[in-house]
Amino acid sequence: MKNKHIALCVTGGIAAYKAAALASMLKKAGAHVHVCMTKNACEFITPLTFETLSANRVITDTFSREAPYEVDHVSLAKQADLVVVAPATANIIGKAANGIADDFVSTLLLAARCKVVFAPAMNTAMLHHPAVQENMQTLAGRGCAFISSQAGMLACGDVGDGRMAEPEEIFSYLDRALSAKKDMQGVRVLVTAGPTREKIDDVRYLTNRSSGKMGYALAEAAAERGAQVTLVSGASLPAPEHVQVIPVVSAQDMYEACMQALPQVDLVVKAAAVADYTPKHKLSGKMKKGGDLALELVRTPDILKAIGQQKQGQVLVGFAAEAADLEKNALAKIKSKNLDLIAANDISRSDIGFGSENNAMTLYFADGSRKELPLAPKKEIADLILSEAMALVQKRH
Ligand code: CTP
Repeated sequence: MKNKHIALCVTGGIAAYKAAALASMLKKAGAHVHVCMTKNACEFITPLTFETLSANRVITDTFSREAPYEVDHVSLAKQADLVVVAPATANIIGKAANGIADDFVSTLLLAARCKVVFAPAMNTAMLHHPAVQENMQTLAGRGCAFISSQAGMLACGDVGDGRMAEPEEIFSYLDRALSAKKDMQGVRVLVTAGPTREKIDDVRYLTNRSSGKMGYALAEAAAERGAQVTLVSGASLPAPEHVQVIPVVSAQDMYEACMQALPQVDLVVKAAAVADYTPKHKLSGKMKKGGDLALELVRTPDILKAIGQQKQGQVLVGFAAEAADLEKNALAKIKSKNLDLIAANDISRSDIGFGSENNAMTLYFADGSRKELPLAPKKEIADLILSEAMALVQKRH
């Protein structure tokens, strides 16, 4: 955050007063804060408040002749390390999505080449209107980030979604975004995530309790560090930014997607919980019940093993979910699947694993060494696994 240039765009909503707290936090953290306000924002809070907090001139319109020449929209767009729009009204989101530039803030958004972060604030009905949702999707597709609004009492008296995230939450998001290491630039990564679903008939399937959160955390963390990420997923979580998601259903689908991607990647991280068995006969329609039923199952392809056999220089990271004999089984899997590293999970612990936000793992390396990753949010665990994998990628090149 220190010495970073942050353009804080304030648009016309009652949450504009919270942007003052954000400006103050950014300034205290050592950032150069450049506040730009729309005409409507100035109705809610005065530029003087922001000028005092940021110790910088506040920009309120494109044609102001009082501002020194260097602070026009293009030079600020070039100078900014990050642009944050807080609060972001439906109007500014609509303008940004459609390339409309009719005041300083919208012009800056069009000229900015750095990361742009929106903290939406509006009435619930407006937030859920398809026009606003589509505009947000369009911007997210171009790499903009959205800090979700919260549910609560709104200024209009309604209770629902649309209250701007608290300044502390916005600040910590910006802090993370600005401090992200870019040590994976140019590295191509294949991540698998989630469960697979093995069809019994058109309405029933066999699956497992994997939520996909660990795999998504890995994909997101790798993308933030500059990697080019393909995520083959059996889960239905929202796609992380800048990640190419290939949705799959069965183990066979996942096998095919992975084998196709393999020649183009440098690192494979197989966090998916792949079904080991699939029904031998998949029925069409809905099976009618009768007496007791024995389902005949056949083995699915072991994707990790197949990658281990076919890899040509790629670093291969496997996962092991074990209820007992963690070390023995993890080491056996490194050998039998030709892995460089295995991240082993003790699924008998109730505080980690399936569906949880946190995880704790032991990493075992092909050279016999090991490393403990103590209990931490899945995103932090993901970053630690990637750092170990990156050390192996760098060694190989
Ligand atoms: N895996 C895979 N294809 C399968 C089964 C598992 O690619 N058909 C991968 C998983 O993505 C994971 C690793 O193998 O990275 C270990 O999965 P796990 O379920 O712990 O072990 P299995 O290899 O299935 O062995 P076992 O069930 O005997 O523990």
